[in-house]
Amino acid sequence: RQMRLSSKPLKGRRVIVTAGATVERIDPVRYITNDSSGKMGFAIAAAARDLGADVHLIMGSTQASPPQGIPHTRVESAQDMYDALQEVWETADIVVKAAAVADYRPKEQFDRKIKKSGDQMSLELVKTVDILESLGRMKTTQFLIGFAAETNDLDKYAMDKLRRKNCDLLVANDVTQEGAGFGTDTNVVSIFDSSGLVEALPLMSKEMAALRIMELAAERLAGALD
Ligand code: CTP
Ligand code: CA
Repeated sequence: RQMRLSSKPLKGRRVIVTAGATVERIDPVRYITNDSSGKMGFAIAAAARDLGADVHLIMGSTQASPPQGIPHTRVESAQDMYDALQEVWETADIVVKAAAVADYRPKEQFDRKIKKSGDQMSLELVKTVDILESLGRMKTTQFLIGFAAETNDLDKYAMDKLRRKNCDLLVANDVTQEGAGFGTDTNVVSIFDSSGLVEALPLMSKEMAALRIMELAAERLAGALD
């Protein structure tokens, strides 16, 4: 009961946060990536730290720099991110998958720079490992928070992902909204759990949204132990 009133409700908890974009190599000088700035994941990591957690970041490619003083591991591909998570999974109390992971990667990775030839070329892509879905299957005591970026049918897709990936909370953002999504300093997010919408947050800074998400996770985690 006392924990709820604490200003450090995540004290003693280990929180793993993934942030940024994965990079899928084509050849030594070319790759496939996305526009994730890393800001939302960084805000989550800072919020968790401010709430008392022991935080570790696993980060892909980002424009922003990680918050000062938070230990981080840099990874490149979805597979690398998956491997890094496997190493820390057992020690984690909360895992937050804010990273934008590539859904497909080049089937072949060339050791040498691909030479141009002909007027057309095609690149064969294969599915990457769905990290969150794998973690959802491995879950024992871990509290799992997923993200979803959608342009339409937000509620339906958010609930689909939450169930499919066995998340405790899913944070969905409608990237078509002004002030939401990749690169911005603000976000408009809705938070879901297995019974549906928990909270629809108005437009606010990524820092404020992150704090609310982590406060909610702290409450749920404390509640689970009562
Ligand atoms: N995710 C993951 N591994 C992947 C793809 C996605 O762990 N290979 C995670 C993301 O980090 C995010 C969540 O799954 O927390 C949802 O990502 P999103 O791209 O919105 O959903 P997908 O399941 O990839 O479906 P789609 O892109 O078709 O909407
Ligand atoms: Ca995806």
